[in-house]
This record gives sequence, C-alpha cells and structure tokens, in this order.
Amino acid sequence: MTFPDTSFQIGTIAISPPLVMAPLHEITDQPFRRMIREVGGVGLTVSEMISSEALIRHAFKAERMMASEGERPYAMQLSGSDPDHLAEAARMAEAAGADIVDLNMGCPASNVTKGGAGSALLRDIRLAEACVSAIVKAVRVPVSVKMRAGWDASQKERSEYLDFLKMFENAGIQALAIHPRTRAQQYTGHADWSLIEKAVEAGMAYPIIGNGDVQTAEDAHRMVRETGCHGVMIGRAALTNPWIFRQVIEPGFEVTEAQRIDLCARFFRLLMDMLDEREAVHKIKKIGGWFTKGIRNGAHFRQRLNQIHDASELIRELELLKQL
Ligand SMILES: Cc1cc2nc3c(=O)[nH]c(=O)nc-3n(C[C@H](O)[C@H](O)[C@H](O)COP(=O)(O)O)c2cc1C
Repeated sequence: MTFPDTSFQIGTIAISPPLVMAPLHEITDQPFRRMIREVGGVGLTVSEMISSEALIRHAFKAERMMASEGERPYAMQLSGSDPDHLAEAARMAEAAGADIVDLNMGCPASNVTKGGAGSALLRDIRLAEACVSAIVKAVRVPVSVKMRAGWDASQKERSEYLDFLKMFENAGIQALAIHPRTRAQQYTGHADWSLIEKAVEAGMAYPIIGNGDVQTAEDAHRMVRETGCHGVMIGRAALTNPWIFRQVIEPGFEVTEAQRIDLCARFFRLLMDMLDEREAVHKIKKIGGWFTKGIRNGAHFRQRLNQIHDASELIRELELLKQL
C-alpha cells in the first residue's frame, strides 16, 4: 500500500488517513476541528496550543479542551517550560479525554519563547528532555512533540535537531511532527524538506510527520515521495481550502461555489452552538471569509463580513451571496 492509503501508529492509535490538521493558535478550537472533521479526510486533529501555566491556574476553561463530537483521535497540544507544571497539565489533558498529548517546541512568538517555551526549548536540550520526560511519565496516553528545525541557521547547520530526535526516542515519545524552518525564519523563506528526509533516515522508533508549505494535495504526495515521512501535517492551506485532506485521498475531488458558501454557513452554526454570539461573530469574521476565497462575489462578501455586528446580519449576507 502506498500513501495515502497507508496509516501510521502513534503508540496504539492508528492515524488513518495519515493526514494531520496542524495546530493553529486561536483557530483550531472545537468548532473549527469539528468542521474539519465533517469535511473529512483527516486522520488526526490537534488543539490549538494551550499554555500549561494557564491550564493549571484554571485560566483556560477545561470544557474547551475536550474533543468535539466525532473527533477521534484527538491530540491536545501543551506549551510550557516547567517540567512539573507540564506534567500536571498533561494529566489534566488526559483526564479531559485527550488521546495524545503533544508538546510545542516550535512556537516562535516572543511572548512564548521569553518564558523558555515553544521553540526556545530547542536552545536547551537538557530542559527539553526534562519537559518531555515529565510528560511521558505523567500520562498513559502517547506523547508527541512538534518541533522546528532549530533556533537559528547556525544551530540548523550543526544538525542539532538530530540530537533532539535521539533524546526524544530515549524519553519515550511516540511521534514527532517537524516543521523545518528555524525560529529565526518565523514564516519566511521555505520549509526545508530535506530535514524531514534526514529525520526519517535517522531511523527513530517513532513515526515522523512532515509539515510546512503543503499548499495543494499534490504537495502532500510530493512530500511523502521526497522525504519518506509517515504522515503529512497541513496548516495554512486548510484555512482557504478545508477540503485539501479529501483531495489528497480522493484525487480529482472538486469543490463547488455552493459547497464553499454552505461550509461558511455550517461553520457559523457550529460557532453559535459552541460559543456565545459575540465570540461566534468575531470568529466568523476572522475565519469564515477564507472559505469563500476564489468564488464569484467572494471579495465583496468578505468586505461585508467586516461590517457585520450580529448573527442575523451574517445569515442575511450568506443568503445574499447564495442568490448572486
Ligand atoms: C496562525 C498560526 C497559528 C499557529 N499556531 C500554532 C500552534 O498553536 N501550535 C503549533 O505547534 N504550531 C502553530 N503554528 C504552526 C503550524 O502548526 C505549522 O507548523 C506551520 O503553519 C507550517 O505549516 P503550513 O505551511 O502547512 O501552514 C501556527 C501557524 C499559524 C500560521
């Protein structure tokens, strides 16, 4: 069997199809993940990054951590740099029903890295090891890590990420997602897929999930061909094209304009079911318009979207868009 008919395992959990919706802060919350699951083709969804500190202070609402309906398997992603706090947060994640606990070692945002979390953990392999080991010891569910290529170009050139791969294996992680940009690159330049290939060649006991710059279904196929990775994680492309996962597994799958408008309406209903109206309107203004990219009158709709204040206005705009 060849990709995408294969699956891979994270511990005892089969990821099938071998496609992962990337964690996106303030985007991959429960309504978004439910919408992506309804569209289909995804083998694993991941929460947005949840600060372990916020979680254990109960500053993050526990019910928001849960898997949404039909969402299994589901990984919860934690950020932090204090091993004890991460262990406590991981226990909370497991108790809330996470199938997998993931540790963020990639976030480049300075408000995260200044506390030593996210990609800053790539500068301190001892601390990173203590964090990963603490989580692995704290929970029974499998633990995964999502990392970048390193802090900066010089660290990448020294291939220090390979030391991390070995350390992760010894610490007992069960999967690794790698976004091969350095922290210094943020989102500029290109994801260097040769690092994904090297990670696969390193022959670790856990699967490697490739990530970065998959913009089309064909890119996902190419990533597997070029790197041999076991799974593909897609982030930004799924925002304008939530059907990308379906297109990977069903070549030729096309999306109509009506489906794009209907998805926007369906997503809004999910937002209204799970959030209060103010939050739902805020989210649809931020995210909903992306699904209408490329359709006739889509640009006009997105302009109107910026001006709406409540649910009834949004529903009216969607009706108008359908009639045009
Ligand atoms: C708006 C935004 C939010 C993100 N939030 C997270 C996050 O919470 N946790 C994480 O590990 N990565 C996060 N990332 C990184 C993505 O998961 C992914 O690694 C990156 O976008 C590269 O994949 P892509 O080219 O398919 O988008 C975020 C990226 C973006 C653009």
